[in-house]
Amino acid sequence: MRVLITGGAGFIGSHLAEFHLERGDEVHCVDDLSTGTLENIAPFRDSPEFRFDRADILTWDGLTEALARADRVYHMAAVVGMFRVLTEPEAVLATNVAGTERVLRCAAEAGSRPRVLVASSSEVYGPVGTHRLDETDALLVHCDTAKTQWNYALSKLAGEALGITYSGSFDLPVTIVRLFNTTGPRQSGRYGMVVPRFVRQATLGEPLTVFGDGLQTRSFCHVGDSVRALHLLCESDAAEGEIVNVGNDRAITVLDLANLVRSMAGSSSPVIFVPDSEAYYHGFVGIRHRKPALDKLKRLVGFEPEHTLEDTITDLLAAIRPTAEGARATG
Ligand SMILES: NC(=O)c1ccc[n+]([C@@H]2O[C@H](COP(=O)([O-])OP(=O)(O)OC[C@H]3O[C@@H](n4cnc5c(N)ncnc54)[C@H](O)[C@@H]3O)[C@@H](O)[C@H]2O)c1
Repeated sequence: MRVLITGGAGFIGSHLAEFHLERGDEVHCVDDLSTGTLENIAPFRDSPEFRFDRADILTWDGLTEALARADRVYHMAAVVGMFRVLTEPEAVLATNVAGTERVLRCAAEAGSRPRVLVASSSEVYGPVGTHRLDETDALLVHCDTAKTQWNYALSKLAGEALGITYSGSFDLPVTIVRLFNTTGPRQSGRYGMVVPRFVRQATLGEPLTVFGDGLQTRSFCHVGDSVRALHLLCESDAAEGEIVNVGNDRAITVLDLANLVRSMAGSSSPVIFVPDSEAYYHGFVGIRHRKPALDKLKRLVGFEPEHTLEDTITDLLAAIRPTAEGARATG
């Protein structure tokens, strides 16, 4: 099996690459290293079955050829993380919309009909209520158009529309996955991802910074579970042309998460609250609750998460502690 992963040096992309290499597949990753790193792919960079190209999916002239060679394509490349979304709104639209369109168009042109999985996001559900978010729900597009905060959700929604359209018009076998918060080793806290940020702060003895009142809830999925779900969906004929939630449905408040990380790290760091207006900008609309309905994922591929949130924090502590403590020791 030949696998192409866009964004393959990123957090989820590099875990997908490792998963497929362990299965004996050939893996080709393309990434512009904007948030991805060579460190993420270092554990398997020298594998004879692995190939890496540093390139931008918007301009890479090897894209059609790479797609023509691939049996499976995971389109993971995107501008992600709230800090990048707020500071690089044009890049969000260029990569997430035009980049997705280019990947799908080149895949259709390749003529080989590779199985394509397009990464979307739970952000498309918008600022909605407390219920489990189901794929059949109407989506809420926030109308505060003066703010580019919504570019990410809009770009992911456009990516879904492109995926469904190419699937129908060009007979391309596409599945859209709405990923809910995925976390684990290799995820960077630099772009606004909460779990690695808390783990780093607790490890360094710094205050754990909770944005807003901390009563917002999130559901975190271990990256190993997400990767397994993506693979199962890519192998499923029943998932072709479908939009499917991927995540874990155990919800926790961000304040409880901070306290859990603190206690698992054995840290005496205080927990402090930072208003959204300071963390982001005045008028920022925080999402209150995020919890996936996983019935469709279970029905299609029989998926059940295997890792608890505690497992994920344990893995993150093991990954982050040595570098954080090393950084502290060298001042
Ligand atoms: N991690 C999550 O919780 C989560 C939740 C919802 C959706 N997603 C989606 O999953 C995918 C992977 O996210 P991630 O968490 O691994 O983030 P990530 O930032 O680690 O991965 C994205 C990768 O894409 C690369 N990239 C960005 N622009 C590119 C371009 N123009 N050309 C080539 N490469 C480019 C980056 O360098 C990075 O390696 C994204 O599509 C994201 O929207 C992730």
